[in-house]
Amino acid sequence: MSLIQQLGFLEFEVSDLGAWEVFMTKVLGTQLVDKATDGSMRFRMDGHGYRFVVTPGPRDDLKTMGWQVADAAKLDECVARLTAAGVEVTRGSAEACAERGVAGMALFRDPGRIPVELFYGPTLGKEPFKSEFVGSHFVADELGLGHLVISTRNRDESRDFYMNVLGFKLSDHIVCDIGTYHVDIAFLHTNPRHHSLAMGGPMPKRVHHFMLQVASIDDVGLAYDRARDHDVVIEQELGRHPNDRMFSFYAQTPSGTQFEFGHGGRIIDDETWEPTTYNAISEWGHRRPPRKRPKTETPA
Ligand code: FE2
Repeated sequence: MSLIQQLGFLEFEVSDLGAWEVFMTKVLGTQLVDKATDGSMRFRMDGHGYRFVVTPGPRDDLKTMGWQVADAAKLDECVARLTAAGVEVTRGSAEACAERGVAGMALFRDPGRIPVELFYGPTLGKEPFKSEFVGSHFVADELGLGHLVISTRNRDESRDFYMNVLGFKLSDHIVCDIGTYHVDIAFLHTNPRHHSLAMGGPMPKRVHHFMLQVASIDDVGLAYDRARDHDVVIEQELGRHPNDRMFSFYAQTPSGTQFEFGHGGRIIDDETWEPTTYNAISEWGHRRPPRKRPKTETPA
């Protein structure tokens, strides 16, 4: 069993709470379950009580990554491994655990200085989740909420940290050039989902994108339509990745970071999996949308 079970939750600090509420509910199809007096919101998408926390603030970026472990013993093992690696770790207080709705937690910063919370015993939803917009369902629960591509100070340093200290396994790499831009991304898994975490080099924000997966191809098309209907900026049109085989599109969150919305992601069997290196980020598609041409006036 992996040390880390799954990507448990993501917390974003955002400057426009109203835009995020519309984005999370009407575009992505998650469900608002809690709104605090400071405007913080929680959103649900599967059996867990919540998967996203959105808090007010100027950062417009990822605030915290939450990774779930099985139990108190696994949390202790993580704390021991982090401490042995020279990472400063603090245990979450009873008050902090109650606030997160977990049985136990530990906090540290990863090599790229991203705040991380490890936890066990999350509160589950009282009733089965039902999306107003996603007719099939989000592919989440024991596979975690989806995946995340993070910024690093040094790609190899962060990849090796997550593998050697926290037990993530290498899925593969993608190395290629897109125009003048050199792509070199490491993909890691911690359960059968092809990757729960991926990383390239330094980026302006802590996260490039998070990915949510749905169980039907039509729910990807419907999400694309909703994104267009809400004037969400499409970053990459529909396409398919060669490594995780995800059929997906990319667009902007209200904070300028991106999300990927996809279907058909590959499941890994560690008994037979052989990491490899791909030389393309997409098999087809994932093109930038065509730029709108300014209207030229017809001379009279
Ligand atoms: Fe992705």
